[in-house]
Amino acid sequence: MSTENLPQSPGQPSRKPRVAVVFGGRSSEHGISVVTAGAVLRAIDRTKYDVLPIGITQDGRWALTADEPERMAIADRKAPNVDQLAESSEGGVVLSVDPANREVVYSEPGSVPKALGEVDVVFPVLHGPYGEDGTLQGLLELSGVPYVGAGVLASAVGQDKEYMKRVFTSFGLKVGPYVVIRPRDWERDEPAARKKIVDFAAEHGWPLFVKPARAGSSFGITKVDEPSGLDEAIAEAQRHDPKIIVEAALRGREIECGVLEFEDGPRASVPAEIPPVQAHAFYDFEAKYIDSADGIVPAPLTEEQTVEVRRLAVEAFDAASCEGLVRADFFLTEDGEFVINEINTMPGFTPISMYPRMWQETGVDYPELVDRLVQAALRRSTGLR
Ligand SMILES: Nc1ncnc2c1ncn2[C@@H]1O[C@H](COP(=O)(O)OP(=O)(O)O)[C@@H](O)[C@H]1O
Ligand SMILES: [Mg+2]
Repeated sequence: MSTENLPQSPGQPSRKPRVAVVFGGRSSEHGISVVTAGAVLRAIDRTKYDVLPIGITQDGRWALTADEPERMAIADRKAPNVDQLAESSEGGVVLSVDPANREVVYSEPGSVPKALGEVDVVFPVLHGPYGEDGTLQGLLELSGVPYVGAGVLASAVGQDKEYMKRVFTSFGLKVGPYVVIRPRDWERDEPAARKKIVDFAAEHGWPLFVKPARAGSSFGITKVDEPSGLDEAIAEAQRHDPKIIVEAALRGREIECGVLEFEDGPRASVPAEIPPVQAHAFYDFEAKYIDSADGIVPAPLTEEQTVEVRRLAVEAFDAASCEGLVRADFFLTEDGEFVINEINTMPGFTPISMYPRMWQETGVDYPELVDRLVQAALRRSTGLR
């Protein structure tokens, strides 16, 4: 279908596609999502699209927020939040789950609900649980509104470090050694579950990385150097997710690659290298978002390695059935092998984040990136594909 102007009933003036930029959300990555949405609102072509910003509060309320990107920035090392931006402390935006009705309605206790018009595409600028994990994508499928990025399955796979590894392995991508402790393992027999980790360490050596299976931005992850640190690391990971994953530490360089869907299919960006961060035990939240990414673009790799990692990134995109975009993160081991660490279906997306920087270097600037993502979403409809 034409994406410039949506199909019109005869006699109606043509209108621009309406993009709802949804941001904030219930995850611990709320603040960075607001910052990113500010950048998207600034970059999106207003001559081509109408824009409706919708902020989700940390409690999960869909609030109507002002279209004021300048208020959506980090100030005094504090990330902004949707409650500060919401036009009211009570009103809620509702997207109909009737696929025949794309009308968005705003209602506030004691007032007559107000129609906000139709939405043609949703851009979920959300990270982590209830945003990047397939739950929101499920709601949008029910609503029949096309959306930017991965669908239900790919989102869920990308959010779960266990299933992600299982999917990659079954598609022939190499992953590092790991062991999973499910909540039931822990509840049934805690000593046995702990022994499973100790046995794993005996086989693969220390340090270990103890992680919540479904989190992000390094929340709840501990690098454990010796057995005495294990209990605290497990407890910390379980605070974020009852399912935890324990990985052997991989030695090598961290290389990542962006994948973006073009008209003719997914293409990989030039790769980047994330140097070991001295001030942080590993690449953590501060290093990644607040202090801005200090990745090297393009990664200093041989031509052969560059071709290889770009190929693997597209393979990872396809293995998880991604759409729109993904950032694929690898370790280049001392044996010269690319081991996949993870994919992010909604990677850090501020203009200084790695994904936009890699595309910038590849020749796609931030406004074009935003446009390509919206266009890719408009090209498909919801439902099986
Ligand atoms: N198995 C591992 N070996 C070595 N470093 C790791 C390992 N797992 C994670 N790290 C380090 O921790 C960072 C965050 O881990 P990651 O699994 O990417 O979690 P998140 O989903 O929070 O980004 C990685 O970028 C890397 O620097
Ligand atoms: Mg990561």
